[in-house]
Amino acid sequence: MLKLQNISKQFDDKLVLDNINLEIKTGEIVSLLGPSGSGKTTLLNIILGLTSMNHGKIMFNDTDLSNVPMKERGFNIVFQDYALFPHLNAYENIVYGLRNKKGLVSEKELQEYIDFLELKPHLTKKMGELSGGQKQRVALARTLVMKPKVLLLDEPLSALDGVIKESIKQRIKSIAREFKLTTIIVTHDPEEALTMSDKILIINKGNISQFGTPQEIINQPTNDFIKEFILKQLQIKRENILNLFGEKYA
Ligand SMILES: Nc1ncnc2c1ncn2[C@@H]1O[C@H](COP(=O)(O)OP(=O)(O)OP(=O)(O)O)[C@@H](O)[C@H]1O
Ligand SMILES: [Mg+2]
Repeated sequence: MLKLQNISKQFDDKLVLDNINLEIKTGEIVSLLGPSGSGKTTLLNIILGLTSMNHGKIMFNDTDLSNVPMKERGFNIVFQDYALFPHLNAYENIVYGLRNKKGLVSEKELQEYIDFLELKPHLTKKMGELSGGQKQRVALARTLVMKPKVLLLDEPLSALDGVIKESIKQRIKSIAREFKLTTIIVTHDPEEALTMSDKILIINKGNISQFGTPQEIINQPTNDFIKEFILKQLQIKRENILNLFGEKYA
C-alpha cells in the first residue's frame, strides 16, 4: 500500500499541489489525469523522491519514506521525455542502471524483459535510429530491469499513435498484472486513463477532483469539472467519429 498524506507543494509562491491524500493498493494501476499544468508530473516526482514537498507524508507498506532519498525508495520512473542516452545503444541504455547492481537481474531475466518488449532486433541501434515507440519500449525496459517496487510513468503513450499505442498500453497492463507491480501513469487523455487503469485520480489545479474506478468516473462524476472537461472530451471524440463514419463505427 502506498499512502500519500496531506501533500502540498509550492513553487516560489505558487501552490501547485494542495493537500493531496491518496491510497494505492499493491498491484493497482492508477492514472493521474488532468489538464496541462495541473500538477501531475510534480506529484509523480514527489512520489519518486526527485522533488521535495513542502508538507506531507509518503508511506509505503507502513514505512515512512518522506525523508528517504530517491535511490533508497526503490521506485522507478519513465520520464515524459524518456531521458535516454543518445550516445549509447539500446542494450547499453537498458542495462545502464544495473552497472552497480550486480546480481539484481540474471541474464535470463534480462532477456525475458527484452523479448517481452520485442527489442531484440534493435539492441545495437543508437537512440537516433529508433522510432518513438521503440524508444518508449527501451525506456520501459530500462526501468523494469531495476525491479522497481512502484513503477511511475509520465505520459508513456503521448508520443505514440494507433497500433503501437494500443500495444504498449496492453504491455504496461500485463506487466503490472504479471509482476503485481503498483503502477502510476500520468496522462491527460481521458480515454487512455479509462481503458488502462483500475483507478483514476483526476487532478485540477493541484486539487483532487475525484478518485475512483473508471465506472465511477463515468457514471457518478462528482463535480462539474469532470463533467465538462473529461466527459465532454470523450463525447466530442465519439461525435467526431460518428460524424465521419456513422453509428456503426463509434
Ligand atoms: N521546477 C519548477 N519550478 C517552478 N515551477 C514549476 C516547476 N515545475 C513545475 N512548475 C509549475 O507547477 C505547475 C504544475 O506543473 P506540472 O509539470 O506538475 O504539470 P503537469 O500536470 O505535469 O503538466 P503537463 O501535462 O503539461 O506535463 C505548473 O504551473 C508549472 O509551471
Ligand atoms: Mg507533466
